[in-house]
Amino acid sequence: MKLPLILRALLPLLYLAQGNQAAHISIQNPILPGFNPDPAILRVGTDYYLAVSSFEYHPGIPIYHSTDLQTWTLHSHALTTPTQLPLHGIPTAAGAWAPSLSLINGTYHLTLTIRWTYDPIAKLWPRVFWVTSPDLKTWSEPIWADPWGIDPDLFTDPATNKTYLTLMAPNNNIDRLWGISQCEVDLHTGSCLSPYRSIWNGTLPQTPSSRPEGPKLLKRGKYYYLLIAEGGTDELHRATIARSTSPTGPWESNPDNPLLYNGAYGFTNLTVQSTGHATMFDTPEGDWCAVFLARRNIDGFSPLGRETFLCAVEWVGGWPVFNRGGPILLNSEENPKAVPGDFVDEFEGEALGSSWYLLRTPYAEGRASGLILRPNVFSLSDRDTPAAVFRKQTSLNMTFAATLLPFEGGSLGPRQTVGVSAYLSELQHQDIGITGCRTETGNRGGLCVYVEMLNNGTREYTEHPLRTRSNGKQENGLTLYIRAAPHEYKMGYSYSSSKGYSDSHVEVTWLTSFPSSYLATAPPDWFVFSGAMFGLFASGNGEPWPVSGPRVGFERVREVYFEERIADYGLSA
Ligand SMILES: *[C@@H]1O[C@H](CO)[C@@H](O)[C@H](O)[C@H]1NC(C)=O
Ligand SMILES: *[C@@H]1O[C@H](CO)[C@@H](O)[C@H](O)[C@H]1NC(C)=O
Ligand SMILES: *[C@@H]1O[C@H](CO)[C@@H](O)[C@H](O)[C@H]1NC(C)=O
Repeated sequence: MKLPLILRALLPLLYLAQGNQAAHISIQNPILPGFNPDPAILRVGTDYYLAVSSFEYHPGIPIYHSTDLQTWTLHSHALTTPTQLPLHGIPTAAGAWAPSLSLINGTYHLTLTIRWTYDPIAKLWPRVFWVTSPDLKTWSEPIWADPWGIDPDLFTDPATNKTYLTLMAPNNNIDRLWGISQCEVDLHTGSCLSPYRSIWNGTLPQTPSSRPEGPKLLKRGKYYYLLIAEGGTDELHRATIARSTSPTGPWESNPDNPLLYNGAYGFTNLTVQSTGHATMFDTPEGDWCAVFLARRNIDGFSPLGRETFLCAVEWVGGWPVFNRGGPILLNSEENPKAVPGDFVDEFEGEALGSSWYLLRTPYAEGRASGLILRPNVFSLSDRDTPAAVFRKQTSLNMTFAATLLPFEGGSLGPRQTVGVSAYLSELQHQDIGITGCRTETGNRGGLCVYVEMLNNGTREYTEHPLRTRSNGKQENGLTLYIRAAPHEYKMGYSYSSSKGYSDSHVEVTWLTSFPSSYLATAPPDWFVFSGAMFGLFASGNGEPWPVSGPRVGFERVREVYFEERIADYGLSA
């Protein structure tokens, strides 16, 4: 497995109080850059496992592994089959949400919600289930829980061995005031074994739009702690905590809530925003830390979405204190900013590398092999499974370059496309690709390189004739580029493979640029919970791929990363 680049972005030293010694580990945040929201962490001996949300992508719920909390590799995905991840027809922002990880009587449990739709006519409630595993690699079929809601957590009380399901759910189906609800649960059937009741509504006024969510139960000493997220996942997002001498309450709110809230310093001053949805854990040495989600706010936009961050936790008077009570920053003078090495994939193995994702539930089991695409009727704008594979954008300053396979067995018509995408959702994606020329000005019948931008409900399309060899065939080595910088993306192409690419060599013909806000905002009345992805696609755009159509695919993808100089207060670059 060639897991890319765990970015050593920039960041502060975390001092972990260890008895009287001031032990410290050096962590560069974000620890998991790119679209990695809602982190749930579990320590097993000296190993850490961290699961994040995956929304509409397949396979679902990546689980990363680390032994030092800084370097993470992709260990597995929890949801790989159509019964574990039934995502047909779902829109962006629905899908697999907010996992929790627990080790219960020697078996790993991962619980989460699947949200099917936002359509009020469909009347489908987000459903809670869990899957179990002996090794965090192979997972059971789902066990569906009685309650509906989001952000479930399974906690087994060491004192009684009873397991509690705690989640965000409505108080009743009429008023729909959301709060934290709980019951003791039968892990084999998903049924409640004790009365299902509301246990805490957090620290903010309870209104139909308030969202006390992401509960995580833990025990330390004589207290049980109920850590939650509040304020919604945007600017007001924060972590708060309550404690009790019983896992069922009553709950006493921390007098120093919130534990974590960068919004307290203003929404525009600090680069790191939306801090919350935390999980606390201890190290083998007995130090405490928390992982949580946050956004890097680039002058109002966060194209990478919600990323995973880490901070140290100390205990004062039986309450946790996150990051010494200070705001979460990116930079530390003591921490050099390391730039990751290139990511290269030549698609040599039978199976695709595990850092590649499909959209929604594919019709055929398993994943495409190599990178010859089998284009179908669907495009990136359909709520279905186009012939496309995606990787998370993990740096705010990088290039994604993909070299096409030479076409074999025919030419492209004006309906057929093959290309690369800077992709946020079916509603927002910016593509550069090759098609049979469509317009009168193009050399009809020949090949064109095109750029198509879907942003905020608008579409822009341009195409340019491509140079061909004297026999009319496409030139080899045609490479499509996306250059991503904090404020702007550019798209272009060249005729030499991406092998020698750096910003200085290789003549890239840049065809377009667009602001990074295109990959960070949804059309009005829509949601964005994911982050920018880079995709490789081919499509019949509503028609089956012609029998006489060429074989299409990619022979090589290369990502080159550059320094990310992102200031803690606003963006300096
Ligand atoms: C904004 O950031 C500056 C540092 O550049 C800091 O001195 C100032 O106190 C911050 N303002 C607020 C309102 O937090
Ligand atoms: C998106 O378009 C709507 C009008 O349809 C406009 O009100 C809104 O400001 C636009 N948003 C962005 C981010 O451009
Ligand atoms: C991005 O990388 C380029 C090339 O190394 C560099 O010139 C630029 O300053 C970097 N931008 C940021 C924001 O770090």
